[in-house]
Order: sequence, then structure tokens, then C-alpha cells
Amino acid sequence: MEHTALSESKDSLKFPDNFIWGTSTGGHQVEGGNKNSDWWVWELKGLIEDKTVSGRAMDYWNRHEEDHALMAKLNYKGFRLGIEWARVEPQKGCFNREVIDHYRRILQSLRDHKFTICLTLHHWVKPSWVADQGGWMNPDTVNDFLRYAKFVIDELGSFPDYWVTLNEPMVPAIMGNFLGRLPPHRHSIKAYRSVSKAFLRAHAETYHLIHSRHPLAPDGTKSKVGVAMAYPWIEPWNSPGLAGWYERIAAFITRRAAFAGWDYTIRTGKPHWIHGGPAVAGIQDTYDYCGINYYMRVSLKYDRQRHGQYRIDSTKAPPGIEVTQTGWQIYPEGLYRTIHSVWKRFRKPILITENGIADDTDKQRPRYMIEHLVQIHRAIQEGIPILGYYHWSFLDNFEWQSGFAKRFGLIAVQHDDPGLLRVPRPSAYLYSEIARKNAITKEMVEAHAPDLVATVFGD
Ligand code: FCB
Repeated sequence: MEHTALSESKDSLKFPDNFIWGTSTGGHQVEGGNKNSDWWVWELKGLIEDKTVSGRAMDYWNRHEEDHALMAKLNYKGFRLGIEWARVEPQKGCFNREVIDHYRRILQSLRDHKFTICLTLHHWVKPSWVADQGGWMNPDTVNDFLRYAKFVIDELGSFPDYWVTLNEPMVPAIMGNFLGRLPPHRHSIKAYRSVSKAFLRAHAETYHLIHSRHPLAPDGTKSKVGVAMAYPWIEPWNSPGLAGWYERIAAFITRRAAFAGWDYTIRTGKPHWIHGGPAVAGIQDTYDYCGINYYMRVSLKYDRQRHGQYRIDSTKAPPGIEVTQTGWQIYPEGLYRTIHSVWKRFRKPILITENGIADDTDKQRPRYMIEHLVQIHRAIQEGIPILGYYHWSFLDNFEWQSGFAKRFGLIAVQHDDPGLLRVPRPSAYLYSEIARKNAITKEMVEAHAPDLVATVFGD
């Protein structure tokens, strides 16, 4: 995890020599056919906004070779992918050998292409049998997860350069158990707390499992384990009067529930009031690097109609703020501020494990990408060790709530096209150029974010 100082140049923003230019995906969202899972069941119940089902998704399961060749052609250097628990262990205690061998071939192909591999062990989706036993609310589930994790670590542990134990654990904890907006649609503080603690335990024990069973990464250095943590930039709307007070308190609590409580526990080993006691054994200092998933700013506005959402509307953007097709506020400065606060908290190298935008026309994506990379560069220049950037996403994929309607890919894929043809969007080539040059040039900023030229290049 060497951090190289930046060389200065007047007409480009250079990144450190070993900076990882990667792309990111999640198993269920691209592989297709993840049938024995809870999400598959929810899809069939018509719970996805556009009523689609993941089905064969992008068929990455079968087309990975073609996809890896395309990534290599585009100069992408890193790839983040997930292992699906429901495929590996379709029934409790029964591991599927064909599946694990198939994952091994996928990882070997990535290794052959010399990609820096970032491997996620859990990206929200559970086997149906886990859901049937009560999901993360059932204390057995953590032990079940650890049995699965141990199996994967023993079988595939020689491949990952970076491990992600859990993807955005607090998102299903809050959205699924407290706000009822994702399956299993609960509205319960108790459920939020018990799921959060289960995730903390699962992370801590998986961290130690990886270090004991696979102490070395492929390059011979110590294994690097972390979490891809969602860090939305949360702010109160600042309405006048009492509503404003309510919003400030809501923002304070939401930050703690979404990431600050979790981070506190990892840093200190102590339980946070938001999750309640007791302490989770072995949790302290279980990050070798900090994974940041950053997309947006969220402004919390008092709305007395929203009973189910504790009278808070988190979907509105202040006037004049540009939003994406998912309605998410574009706020690149939030990434810079997040990097600073994560660095201050942990003093560990940072990996941007996700950042991207839903944009089928590719009108906003190039600018979004440049603006966020400029903020990353700014933080690197100030001395924060940032190891790499995994853009979400390589391909269009199946989105958790919105199905195929929202398109995050650098590469466009029509899910209903029989051939699932992959067509790179213009920003795929832009990203390719950035990766090739290991820099953002002045021309790129002039072309895609012209109002930044003066600030960035001082003209
Ligand atoms: C993140 C998820 C990822 C993807 C993006 C758009 O919260 O980790 O799977 O859905 O949002």
C-alpha cells in the first residue's frame, strides 16, 4: 500500500503511479440466475419498481471472458465483483462445488488479465433459506455466514488484492428494517439494532478469518480487508422554526445510524448508543483500508405527511442543485469532505469502492466523473493516501429498487436484447483515456466541466 507523491503539471492532474483505475459490480446485479436467493423471491412478487426481475441480468456468469477482454481493451486496471452466497450454499450446509469452481475460473481470468481484484463476500442478497430462518435477525445467521465465508476464503483466498467483507451493511439495516423501503420492509428500531450488530459481528469475525487463513495478498504483502461503506453526505434542509430543529436532529441521528456509529465501533471497539450494547468481540481496528461508496448529498426536510418515514422527506433537492435520473443530488464536494472525515477517523488508506451515476443518455456522466475525480485528486494532493477508484458500474445492471430502468454502466446493455450486446458509452472511452494517461487533462476538464478549469488549472 505504498503511496507515491504526485508530480506537478500545469495542464493535467496526475494521479499516483500505482493508482487503481477500476470498475465495480455486484454479483446478483450482473450474473443472472441467482435463483435461490431472497431478492429473486421479492422480484417474483412484483416488488421492484419497474416490475422487472433480474432473470439472466447481464449474463456475466457466462460472458465474463468477453467482459474481461473489453475491460482490458479499455485500459481498466481493477475490477470489483461479488460472490453470491445463495449460489455457493443453495441449501444450509451444502456447498456447490461447480459454482465455486466457476468462480475460480472467473477470478483466474481476471488474474490472467492482471486486474487488481476487489472481492465482495456479501452484497445484500441472502440465500432463501437464510431469509426463511429470519435473516440477520436470527442469531444463527452470523454463524452460517462465517461458515460460508470460511469456505470461500479457503477456496478462493489466493485471488483478492482487496477484500470487502460486506457491502454497505447499514443500507439494508436502515432501509430494510427501519424505513421499510427495501425488503424485508420492517419499521422497527429493534430490528435495525439487531441487524446492525449481526453485521458488526459478521465483519469482525470474517476479518480475522481472512487474516488467519490467508494472511498474504497475491503480491506478498499482508491481506487487505475492509468494508464498502455507504457515505451519503447528509444535511438538514434548514427550514425555518421548529421544522429546522427537527431536521437538524434527524440529520444528527441519521449520520450516526448510517455510518458514524459503525465507524466509531470499528475504531474504538466500543458499542455505540445507536446500536446498543454489548460490545462485539474483536471488532476494534478491523480495517486495513477504508472503502468508500459515495454517490450524493441527501437533504432531510420536515414533512408531516410522511408518517412511515418519521416525517422526513429525503428525496428533495434544494433549488438549483442538479440531480441524476435516480433523483440523487450531485455534490462532488461531499466526496472530498467524506474522504477527509474518514481519513481523520481511521488514518488508513482509502479505496473508493463505488461512485457513479444513473444516466442512460450519458449526458451527465462525463461531467460527474471528472468532477468527482477532481475532488479525489484534491484530497490526494493534500496528502491523503487514496489507493484507487472503482467506478460504479462497468455494465448496466439490475438495480435493487428500480430494476433495469436505471442505467449505471460505462457499458450500455439492453437487458431485453437477445444478444445482450455490450456497447461502450462515450464516458467508457473517457475513463479509458484517464486510466491510460493516469491523469485528468485540461482538455478533458474543458470539454466536460468547463467551469472548473479556472479553479483546477488556475487560468
Ligand atoms: C449502491 C449499491 C450498488 C448499486 C449502487 C447504485 O448503494 O452498493 O449495488 O446499486 O448503489
